[in-house]
Formats: sequence, C-alpha cells, structure tokens
Amino acid sequence: MKITLSVIKADIGGFVGHSESHPDVLAKAVSCLEKARKDGLLVDYHVTKCGDDLELIMTHRLGAENKDVHQLGWDTFCEGTKIAKALKLHGAGQDLLKDAFSGNVKGLGPGLAEMEFEERPSEPVVIFMADKTSAGAWNMPLYKMFADPFNTIGLVIAENMHNGFKFEVLDVKEHKKIIFNTPEEIYDMLVLIGAPSRFAVRAIYHKDDGEIAEVSSTQKLCFLAGRYVGKDDPVCIVRSQGQFPAVGEVLEPFNSPILVEGWMRGSHMGPLMPVSVANSTPSRFDGPPRVIALGFQLAKGKLIGPRDMFADCSFDLAREESNLMADMMRRHGPFEPHRLPLDEMEYTTMPQVMKKIQGRFQPAED
Ligand code: F6R
Ligand code: MG
Ligand code: MG
Repeated sequence: MKITLSVIKADIGGFVGHSESHPDVLAKAVSCLEKARKDGLLVDYHVTKCGDDLELIMTHRLGAENKDVHQLGWDTFCEGTKIAKALKLHGAGQDLLKDAFSGNVKGLGPGLAEMEFEERPSEPVVIFMADKTSAGAWNMPLYKMFADPFNTIGLVIAENMHNGFKFEVLDVKEHKKIIFNTPEEIYDMLVLIGAPSRFAVRAIYHKDDGEIAEVSSTQKLCFLAGRYVGKDDPVCIVRSQGQFPAVGEVLEPFNSPILVEGWMRGSHMGPLMPVSVANSTPSRFDGPPRVIALGFQLAKGKLIGPRDMFADCSFDLAREESNLMADMMRRHGPFEPHRLPLDEMEYTTMPQVMKKIQGRFQPAED
C-alpha cells in the first residue's frame, strides 16, 4: 500500500519581524495535526519551522493533491493566523492569499511538495526547508546530488544508479515543464537550470525504475498573485539510499555554500547557510538565507525521527564560510550583484523614481 509524504508550508507571521516563528503558533499546529492523526486522516506528522515559515510534514494514504489533507493544511494555517494576529506577529497571515479554501492549496499561497510511493524495506528521506530564498535555490544542490559524480560517487560505482536520473524542470514564468535525461543531456539542462530565477527543478525520477526520487515546491507567490505578496521560501523532499544517493551524498552539496536570491526584502543575493532548526533564525540583515535538513526513516508511514542533519559539526566550516561570503556581499550595499537585477527585486521604487526624473533625461551625444 502506497504512502504519501506531504509537506505544506506558509509564513503566517514572524517573531520578531521576519526572523523566527512563535512557539504558540507551532503548538497550535501540533494540536491541529494531532487531532487529524487521531481521527485517522494522517498516519503521522511532524511540525517544525525554518525562520518565519511554519512547516507541516505529514504522511497519509490518500495520495497527492488530496482535498482533505490540503484542507487540513489550510485550516491549520488559519488557526495559526488567529494566534499570530492576537499576538500581533509581523505579517500575520501573509501567505494566505485567498479568503476561502477551494479544494487544493495550490494557488492559495502556501508552498507544497508531495510524493506518493511504495515504502521500501528501508525508506530514509531528507526534507530540506529554506528561508529567505526561492525554489531555484535547489537547482545546483539537486544537480550535484543526482548528476555530478564529484559529489555523488554512487553515480560511478553503484550499479543501481549508474544509468542516471530524469529531471523535470519547470519554467516558472511560462508555466511549462520539460524532462531531461542525465547524464546524456546535462549540458542542455544546465543552460536552463543555471538560471534559477527562471527555471526550477521540480521533480527527479530514477531512470531505470521510474521511481520518484525528489520533489520540490515551485509555487512562486509573485506570479500567483500577479505581484509579490510574500516569500516562496521553498521545501524539497529527497528519498535516499539504495537506488538513490546515500544520505551523505544528499547532504554534501550544502557543504559548499552558494549564493542564492531572496535575502533582505527579497531583493538581494546571499549565501545559503546550512543550519540546525534552532539556528534557523535569519537575523543579520534579515538573513543570510538558511536551509535546514530533517532526516526520517519511514516505518509503515510513521516518521521515525527527525534527525537534525545540519546540526552535525562537520557543517561548521560551511557556516563559517557562509558568514565570510555574507560579509563580502554586504560590502556591495545597494549595488549589484548583492542587490538583484532591477526586474528581480521584490521591492522597487524604480517606476516612481523614473517618473520623477523623466523630463531631465537628455539625448546622449554618442
Ligand atoms: C526577506 C524578508 C524580509 C522583509 C523585510 C521587510 O525575504 O522577508 O527581509 O522583506 O523585513 O519586511 P516588511 O515589508 O514586512 O516590513
Ligand atoms: Mg515573513
Ligand atoms: Mg520566510
């Protein structure tokens, strides 16, 4: 019997500012999901947070895009929003873009990653959750995990991985998708996924058996609402071991911090710092962007765990390097490449400024 792993997330209020979640909101989410478990809707659940994002990790037998499970996620965010409003948390309810639920959380504001699969005799999963960045941030780490033998030696020496993986890539602006076979098509694929503000890896499949290996949230709130109304701080589920990359191969890409978009006012580039759940509190210039990784063993749908994978001291140097990279980027102040290109910024005064100075532009001589 198949199990479905659903991760639904939303920022429904920050404590203080956009730096952290409030314990009362987390406790409310636990009580909502506990009730759903007792009622038999969920097999199991885990509630956590990454910075100001509330993360609902749930297992059930109802498949992806199930109305009742999505309704539970939506209702839990609404209940949490009541508390956030009472405490006047910052941006209370900010990711709930619609007044009413209509069958599926897609398009309503929350982020979503779900996969349905037959649980293997051992089923390790790692769930990555990030704050102050967007879905394209997973592109390079996923490429390294599933297509780069310098990261994943299993691609070279493990028979059950040697044929490679299929990557489903989404064009977030045109809302089209394409599947690439790796390793054959990596050069073509990199043309696209090397532009993470436009193209995002949405899912990865094992090439031999078609098994789902990875799924990411690719909702872009800016495009959903026609304007920016909140962050789309992303989540991503990765299955591990056996015919998939080992846990160490799954975590290894985050040991080399990369620059991602989304820092301060969603308008700056900064290093993606791997941290423990406790340290997912982006406080310096509202950042730098954070990523947490929770590991679970599934046992008949029960979530055995979590293990807080980035709490390990072997990621200390990556954190130090992220802080050095943060210093280097901050030195640029309001200049690119720290500040995002004009059309990528979440906040801009460009139209107003251009309107004000319009009449002062003169033809340039050459
Ligand atoms: C970045 C982020 C914050 C806010 C900033 C302004 O993703 O969430 O940097 O953009 O603190 O927030 P508001 O507009 O809510 O005052
Ligand atoms: Mg926020
Ligand atoms: Mg956030």
